[in-house]
Amino acid sequence: MINIHVAGTDLTEKEEVYVLEALRSTWISSTGVFVDKFENDFAKLCGTKSALSVCNGTIALHLSLLGLDVRPGDEVIIPSLTYVATANAVRYVGAEPVFVDVDPETWCIDPKLIENSITRKTKGIIPVHLYGHPADMDAINQIAAVHGLWVVEDAAEAHLARYKGCPVGSLSKIATFSFYGNKILTCGEGGAVVFNDPQLKIRLKALRGQGVDPMRRYYFPITGYNFRLTNVACAILCAQIERHKEIIERRKKIFQNYDDKLRGIPGIGFQPVAPWAEPAPWLYCITVDEKIYGQSRDALMKKLAQDGIETRPFFIPLHHLPPFRDESRRRGENLPITDALSLSGLNLPTFSQLTNDQIVKITEIIRCFSKKYAF
Ligand SMILES: Cc1ncc(COP(=O)(O)O)c(C=O)c1O
Repeated sequence: MINIHVAGTDLTEKEEVYVLEALRSTWISSTGVFVDKFENDFAKLCGTKSALSVCNGTIALHLSLLGLDVRPGDEVIIPSLTYVATANAVRYVGAEPVFVDVDPETWCIDPKLIENSITRKTKGIIPVHLYGHPADMDAINQIAAVHGLWVVEDAAEAHLARYKGCPVGSLSKIATFSFYGNKILTCGEGGAVVFNDPQLKIRLKALRGQGVDPMRRYYFPITGYNFRLTNVACAILCAQIERHKEIIERRKKIFQNYDDKLRGIPGIGFQPVAPWAEPAPWLYCITVDEKIYGQSRDALMKKLAQDGIETRPFFIPLHHLPPFRDESRRRGENLPITDALSLSGLNLPTFSQLTNDQIVKITEIIRCFSKKYAF
């Protein structure tokens, strides 16, 4: 039986008080003081002029692509080593995701390889700040500028990470976030888009709210969606934002503890950190070099599960999944770094309440399970 899960929430009395306030106010749909407060506070945190709350991170991506008028026949460049939502959102607007390999130094999309994949159909790039590590945004933005492309950061996993001192979310036309239960800041299900452009704000707000005319209630000049988030969910997020320093600090300590205890085990590798990166401490990552460690990644995961510890394998590359693989093959995509990481990487339990004893247990199993270490 699993008794240490891979992720967990960090919710306190503050979240309870705000939720109760939202409930008692009777404003439980998508209007209310917590929606406005969350959008103001989150924009400030990301260093952008605006933030809009939406139902989840997938919808944040979908809304961004609608806002940028991405259409059938267009192509959007994304990494293959990411959660499926990044590619699904591209398909929702009828466009085609084109996959580019990741950089071994960041595990994020490799800017050096992007230009090879640009065609006449390419409209934009969605770098993903994978497992909390920011992508190399200057290099990506430079390529985008040369080719007249937009850039949308998928920052679902990288709340409050920094790139060259600037918060992720502030580094491109639009950035998207997820507040799913396993994320650093959460409200169960939720998302946000952040951006600076005031014109884009009018369009994104209309698309989020059934296409409503901002000047005329109940008049709908365009086809829109209901992508709104509730005041109750925003109440949780407001509390999480107020507590963000404490939440991040706790997770950083867990990262440090894992670093200290896993260092020196032959065959266990770590997530690289680029010199310009201040990653978000999302899910702690390790890689297993089977030849050196003496056991496979999957055998280690099985062993940990037998001892009640849940882990997560790295993402299965999207270019191997049935909805995307035929098109990917047709384009001749070959992504060796993505494939190697996907087979060797796993996420260890990472959440605020993880105790030192639990980290000792997890890391000792990893140390002792190594064939090379068994003496
Ligand atoms: C990189 C990435 N993009 C998008 C999403 C989608 O977010 P959500 O699950 O809130 O729809 C996730 C979610 O976990 C993600 O990891």
